[in-house]
Amino acid sequence: MKILLIGNGGRENALAWKIYNSKSFRQSESKLYCTIGSPGLDEFSVPVDIKPVDFEKLIKFVKEEGIDFTVVGPEVPLSLGIVNEFEKNGLKIFGPCKEAAEIESSKIFAKDLMLSHNVPTANYKTFIKNNLPEAGEFLNKCEYPVVIKDDGLAAGKGVVIANNLEEANEAVDEFRKSNRSGDAGFKFIIEEYLKGEEISVFVITDGDDYVVLPYSQDHKKIREGEKGKNTGGMGAVAPLKKFMNEDLDNRIRSEIIEPTLKALRETGREFKGCLYCGLMVTDNKPYVIEFNCRFGDPETQAVLPLIESDFLKLLLASSGKEIKEYSLVVNQNFTCCVVMASKGYPDNFETEKEIKGLDVPDDKSIVFQSEQNIHKITKS
Ligand code: AMP
Ligand code: GLY
Repeated sequence: MKILLIGNGGRENALAWKIYNSKSFRQSESKLYCTIGSPGLDEFSVPVDIKPVDFEKLIKFVKEEGIDFTVVGPEVPLSLGIVNEFEKNGLKIFGPCKEAAEIESSKIFAKDLMLSHNVPTANYKTFIKNNLPEAGEFLNKCEYPVVIKDDGLAAGKGVVIANNLEEANEAVDEFRKSNRSGDAGFKFIIEEYLKGEEISVFVITDGDDYVVLPYSQDHKKIREGEKGKNTGGMGAVAPLKKFMNEDLDNRIRSEIIEPTLKALRETGREFKGCLYCGLMVTDNKPYVIEFNCRFGDPETQAVLPLIESDFLKLLLASSGKEIKEYSLVVNQNFTCCVVMASKGYPDNFETEKEIKGLDVPDDKSIVFQSEQNIHKITKS
């Protein structure tokens, strides 16, 4: 079997490792390819120098090379419609179509979908360029903190928790300046701040049926003890036992996952792939903070080592609408993922530093590499 993996961060390193070690992959006769490759990925895969958004080149490569199945890691190619293009060409691929991926690429779409289908989420109000004065009035009157969210994809920078009016106005201003679709397309949400514990939920679905991977929690603050700036995630733990219980698990399924998949189906946006539900649990009740249309990072690095059943088969079952026949088996381990980053992250930080000591001394640790353009890595 020939598999192409798109993306090359830490998440994709974990996906490559898990696909490569799936029984159905049959290492001796199969081949894994990866765009664009990275030192961590090259251990399992052949690097392919095509950009994840260059669909024409990717499709040509897949056809010429006889790739059987493509797995997409990041949200950008999904939101641009890579799955639609591949499927038009009769090619098998893991991930949602563009219309379903909008659940991540437009926060307003996601909030409106939740509101119209009774999926619990924080109260919110939508604003556009033309009603900025109303937003100002609203911010003058509301209770703080509030959460301000840019509508589109913002690579982890589209959410600000504002503790007072000044911070709120600054956030709106910042979003407006950095808005990629220009002033005319500027849209944002002001949302109620929810207090509680966060959970990351990965739902692998074929649109109808689904399996839930072990619950995890990521920690986004740069410093020890949840202090400092927000990042894409400095680490994750799984499975989540701290406040999980049967009632909460049932609620997550019946109040969040099932109505959301149904809503997407009913609106002609059937979701296949990994629906990542970012939840806040308050008084044992789950609320959606955000949806993503892909696996989360770094949580994937903590979650995948817990899966015992054939992971590649699970991805194939999502694409082939066979999730009903798949039975998920997980082990009893606990995992903890710790991200090491160059000094200065998440602001300006130095790159091209040599990383040493990657040979881990035991079989209980795994090193996944996230950086996309460092090549000077030595094992010593
Ligand atoms: P992301 O959307 O992944 O950049 O994450 C934004 C982070 O902001 C989440 O992980 C939460 O910690 C926080 N957040 C987003 N919405 C809310 C909310 N309504 N109430 C409290 N915290 C929130
Ligand atoms: N860990 C957060 C995310 O993947 O969006």
